[in-house]
Amino acid sequence: MSAAAVVVLTATVAAAQNLDAGKSPAKLFADGCASCHRSPRGLAKGRFSLTLSWFLKDHYATSSDSARVLAAYLQSVDEPPPRGPAKPAKKPARSAPRPPKPVQTQ
Ligand code: HEC
Repeated sequence: MSAAAVVVLTATVAAAQNLDAGKSPAKLFADGCASCHRSPRGLAKGRFSLTLSWFLKDHYATSSDSARVLAAYLQSVDEPPPRGPAKPAKKPARSAPRPPKPVQTQ
């Protein structure tokens, strides 16, 4: 490989990394992920950030930097909202069927 080719290759890689580095995680998601995943919510599923960034790097061939940034982003939006319960409140099991009582006549 000629020295010129090496320089061009290196410059291309560096430019690509700089482009990625300038984007916010929300923009990274909108550009690269939103076509398939409508929302970043619910993707992290409580995974560790290491597992998650490894998954992103492995599946989507993002740079390790963007993978880490995206993993952190997914985790941050995955947290349940501070107010407003997502789950319906559990009712106490008061309506459980009881065995029929014998009818008492006096
Ligand atoms: C071409 C469509 C497509 C794109 C683009 C895409 N994904 Fe996915 N993704 C999928 C599919 C399909 C699955 C489910 C299959 C699987 O788990 O491998 C998935 C699974 C995942 C999961 C695991 C969710 C789970 O339920 O286990 C995460 C996290 C994820 N994607 C994040 C991302 C991120 C971040 C990006 C952007 C860098 C992205 N995806 C881009 C199609 C896509």
